[in-house]
Amino acid sequence: MQQLSTRHLLGIENLSPADIGLIFETADNFKAVLNRPIKKVPSLRDITIANVFFENSTRTKLSFELAEKRLSADVVNFASGSSSVKKGETLIDTVNNILAMKVDMVVMRHSSPGAPHFLSRHIQASIVNAGDGTHEHPTQALLDAFSIREKLGEVAGKKVAIIGDILHSRVALSNIFCLQKLGAEVMVCGPATLLPRYIRELGVQVEHDVFRALQWCDVANVLRIQLERQQIKYFPSLREYSLYYGINKKLLNRLDKEIVIMHPGPINRGVELNSDVADSEHSIILQQVENGVAIRMAVLYLLAGQK
Ligand code: CP
Repeated sequence: MQQLSTRHLLGIENLSPADIGLIFETADNFKAVLNRPIKKVPSLRDITIANVFFENSTRTKLSFELAEKRLSADVVNFASGSSSVKKGETLIDTVNNILAMKVDMVVMRHSSPGAPHFLSRHIQASIVNAGDGTHEHPTQALLDAFSIREKLGEVAGKKVAIIGDILHSRVALSNIFCLQKLGAEVMVCGPATLLPRYIRELGVQVEHDVFRALQWCDVANVLRIQLERQQIKYFPSLREYSLYYGINKKLLNRLDKEIVIMHPGPINRGVELNSDVADSEHSIILQQVENGVAIRMAVLYLLAGQK
């Protein structure tokens, strides 16, 4: 069996293109399984996985849980809001207590960048980062690139514009690493206040005019304005943001070509993306969600195979 170069999935930054290729090939097989009447395989029977979420989630949490159940793993779920974290228990104590119950793998979302990396140095189990603050969201980037490959045949040579709140986005950073490793060209677009100052050092193009970004790209990955992470005002109002950066049908109709629209969710409808685009034939948003289960099955299966 081919193996990943890592025993944790902490981010895309340290994955090789061969690792990503192996995850995609494995996900192709699992996607075929998911389209069968019986969607379950015994691959992770006797493996126990804890989903440890210190931050809210709909897609990622459900997608991991479904992936684990489709692989026949035993699953336990932890939500910090109803846990002893509220009584002051530390991250390491919390996770070590979960592991004492004979858990083999931990899928963790945390609001602090680096939390899964820190944990990986202190515990034995494999860790999958399900989003660490504004840092990385590796399985989102994998499912995004997998969806581009599915829609356009390949990722190499494609032009992808990531549009919106890049400053607060873990999806943006993981996507930049993943797309570049697969040979795509990446542009980021947004108001200067929502682009990190170091961003050009990552080898991406920077654009502030959304129409020019859409005209340049084959794929637009539109990101959510993350109001919950914004302590100061980065733009005058949501209405003004929507006026200058919101993607709507009228804007797409002005382009001289068809482009693919993506969004990792949750969408602020009418802010970064209008319903006339989100629900149109341009959008592959629900295909991204569907592919998330196959990608997460592949990641869990490959990491478990390294034991
Ligand atoms: N895309 C994503 O991470 O969505 P959730 O926050 O709902 O998991």
